[in-house]
This record gives sequence, structure tokens and C-alpha cells, in this order.
Amino acid sequence: MSANGTVIGFKSGEKGRPTGDVLIVPLLAKPQPPMELVARVDRLCHDAVSELLSIKAVREDVGHIAQTTRSGACPRIVVVSLGAGNKVRAHDVRMAAAAAARWLVGERLKSATLWIDGLTMTDLDNPCGEWALGMALAGFRFTAYKQPDKNVPARIRIAVRSGEAGHVARVMPQVREALKLADAINLTRRLAHEPANVLNPATFVTEARDMARTTKLKCTVLNATRLKQMKAGGILAVGQGAEHPPCVIQLEYRGAPGAGTTTVLVGKGITFDTGGYSLKPRNGMEDMKFDMTGGATVLGIMQAAASLKLRCNLVGLVGVAENSVSDRAYRPGDIIRMMSGKTVEVTNTDAEGRLVLSDVLWYAQQKFKPTVMIDMATLTGGVGVALGTAAAGLMSTDDSLAADLGEAGRRTHERLWRLPLWDDYKELLKSPEADIRNSHGKRDAHCIAGGMFLKEFVDEGIPWAHLDIAAVADADNGRVPSGKGATGFGVRLLVEYLRIRGA
Ligand code: BES
Ligand code: ZN
Ligand code: MN
Repeated sequence: MSANGTVIGFKSGEKGRPTGDVLIVPLLAKPQPPMELVARVDRLCHDAVSELLSIKAVREDVGHIAQTTRSGACPRIVVVSLGAGNKVRAHDVRMAAAAAARWLVGERLKSATLWIDGLTMTDLDNPCGEWALGMALAGFRFTAYKQPDKNVPARIRIAVRSGEAGHVARVMPQVREALKLADAINLTRRLAHEPANVLNPATFVTEARDMARTTKLKCTVLNATRLKQMKAGGILAVGQGAEHPPCVIQLEYRGAPGAGTTTVLVGKGITFDTGGYSLKPRNGMEDMKFDMTGGATVLGIMQAAASLKLRCNLVGLVGVAENSVSDRAYRPGDIIRMMSGKTVEVTNTDAEGRLVLSDVLWYAQQKFKPTVMIDMATLTGGVGVALGTAAAGLMSTDDSLAADLGEAGRRTHERLWRLPLWDDYKELLKSPEADIRNSHGKRDAHCIAGGMFLKEFVDEGIPWAHLDIAAVADADNGRVPSGKGATGFGVRLLVEYLRIRGA
């Protein structure tokens, strides 16, 4: 099988003439970069940069690219706009880098020199790391099942250069960290894209075990027999119609052994969601292969935590099942008993995510006594009706947890917007024949009804947050550095959150 898109590698550049197919110079459009900064790079490219600046080729739109040519070691020179104003955001840097990566791929170039002084002159903490991340995310494309395209380079090598002594050595560790993070995000994206005939509950487990082996994480799988012993009636009902039985993947990372705290992450891992007997309409059903993205996000975060050696203790749990139609599938009207003992009237077999997650949340709290519990799920189409694709829905029982997640969202541009879980909405869960029902059958407060359902299974003493990522898990436009397709939303967010929170 061929690889997915283009891998972007970075190394420290050698002194002297720039090497490679092109010299890339990211610059702010305004304020103009200092004379001596421009002079230093000009020396290596026969004044190409000041020439581009003089014709106003560095425009204010982030990621705008202008090129010129010179004879010599590095025949092409491009300037990439980081936007205008002193308030350049990390997001702008990632977007500009993504544009540069796409341009390189489009031009079929395999090597470049990156001149970082326009990045390091910004007041961002980690501009070169953000740049590397943007490039690495844009390089990934899910092409494994396509005939290899000889015009797309499998690898692009970037040599990092600066006119300032010591700058390259200082930023290279940040670049390497960013590439580890990008690898984790691209794992999430690849798993999200894998079609459901390839990524089923059994192969999802294989993927988790492979990742755990290479990152030295502990991995345990609770199979269907074990789930039956535990009376996990929610996840078992959802998975009972499919050839591959449901399971729970459990990953453990201990990066702060003495701390006595445990953050539990829970992901929805529906490898395909037909809707069950409450069948989904045919248009767009293929996108339901993405319904395991919350689970893939948990895998990505676990990989990132291990490879970046984050100081925290994490448990990652993925409730894995395929929501199928078959003679064995659960039916609308079924009354099931969840692991917690609560009964649920299944008014809609398409509201399956909450049935899976509720058992996993309940299990997590019995088994791990978590300090904090956060679930991620492509839970409702309703979250997109409420917020569009600009933010994921956040529902939480804890203001300080919600605030920390919100701050992590602002920093990473994986933004969250909080929706209420007031008792007023309990009405939506009322069932005449069971303790609660899984769907109220109307469109009002769809997304919140999902959160309210999960809340029924979370102990009051445990700070808990639910992230509904249904509308942000994949993108149909270029408003994110990853471009079209799976975004990996949530990996950077949670890594940042874990850095804010500490152990
Ligand atoms: N996986 C879907 C949610 C979804 C919809 C994700 C569109 C991505 C794009 C989920 O299982 C679902 O079907 N939700 C229903 C819930 C309803 C039946 C209560 C929905 O949103 O319509
Ligand atoms: Zn679903
Ligand atoms: Mn569904």
C-alpha cells in the first residue's frame, strides 16, 4: 500500500548558499521586516527578497505566496505572507505554512531551505514549531488506496536557516516536538479516513495495539464476553447486529507517577453508523465511517502524551462498535439495561453513541476514580446546526474544567462553545416505560439532549466535560491547516489542556 500524501522532514541547514529547489521566506506584510533581517537573506539570493518586498508581493492575506527566480544554488525564491499587524496568531502561522506545503507539493519540489527570521521576529512563543506543524498537517492526504501519483513527492526535505547566530539550534527542538504532535494528529486523521470495510471493531483494536507497542503504552481490550460479565447493556445492544462484536479499548499512560491524579479520556468509536433500523438517509451516509473519530482522537492524544512525555496520568478508553442493520440488530422500542443499572427505551437506534459512551463513562468511574473525565464524540448533527464548523460543542458539569478547556481551545484554535446542561432539559429524557429514553424525536436542543443523557451516568463529584465534535471532525474547505477531510480536531486541544492543567 502506498503512503498518505507527503511527509515533511526538517533538519538544520548548513552555512553558505541555501540548498534545495527553493528558498522559502515567511514574512509579515506589515510592519515591514527590519532592514538588517532582509539584508541578511538578500545576501544569499541576490536581493530577491527586497525586490519582492518593493513590488508589494507580500500581501496581507495569510498564506499568499509570491515567487521569483535567480540563477545560482537555489533557483527559486518565495515569500509567504504571515498576514498583517503585530497580532499575528499561531493559527496564521500554521495556515501560512500549510499554504507553503501545498505550494511545494503542487510544484513537485522535493527540497527547500526555510529562512526563519520572519517567524522568530513575531512575539509568538513557538513560531517555528507552529510552522512545522502547519506544513506536516498539510502534507498528509489520505491517498493510501489510490494509484501512487508520481507527481506528488513522498518526502520533502526542509533545511532550516537563520541570519541570527544560535537561532536554528534554539528552534530545532521545538520543530521536533511539533512533528511528534503532527504524527499523532495524522494518526487520528488516517484512522478517521479508513473505510469501514477496513477499520472495523477488530482492526481498530489492532491499530490501538500497534500504536501502544511503539509508544510503550499499556493496552487492554475488554471484549464482548467481558462486557457481558460487566452487564454493559448499552454498548452490547449497539454492537449486536454487526459481524465484529463490540469492545472497549483501554490505554494507559503514566507520566506523573507520584501525582495521584488521573485524567480519563473517553472516545466514541462507532466504526460505521448506518443508523440501525432507524436507518439514515442514503445521501452522505458514506461520511458515517468518520463516526469513530472521537475514539481515533483518544488514540492520537495518547500517542502524543507518550511521545512528548507529558507530565500527567492518562487513561484513554474507546467504546468500539459498528451500528449495523441485521436480523440480530437492536430495534426501536427495545428497553435495555445499562451497566449502571438504569434502563433505557431505545426510541431511535441512530442515537447509538450515547448508549456506548454511557457504559464506558460508568466503567471509567468505577475502575479509575478519575480526577477529571472528558469524552469526545461525533454525537449529533445538531451541534452543527447550533455552532456550524467554527467550534465544537462543550457541555460540562464543572466551570473550572470548562474554563481550562476553553482556554486551550483559544490557544490552539480548536475552539469550544459551551452549551447548558440545565435541569430544564431533563424533560427530553422522560420515558413512560423505562428510566430514560435515548431520543426525544424532535429537533429542539438535539445536541444538549445528548449531553443530558450522558450526564445521567456521571457521578456528581467528578468534573466531567463532553465535547461534541460531529461538525468539526472533518472539513469540506481550507479553513484549517489540514485542509479538506479529517481534521484531527481535539488532539492539539487536549495536549494544550494537559499542559495547562499539569498533573
Ligand atoms: N453519528 C451521528 C451524528 C453525526 C451526524 C455525526 C452527522 C456526523 C455528522 C449520531 O450517531 C446520530 O445519528 N445522531 C442523531 C441523534 C438523534 C437520533 C437523537 C442525530 O444527530 O440526528
Ligand atoms: Zn453515530
Ligand atoms: Mn447515529
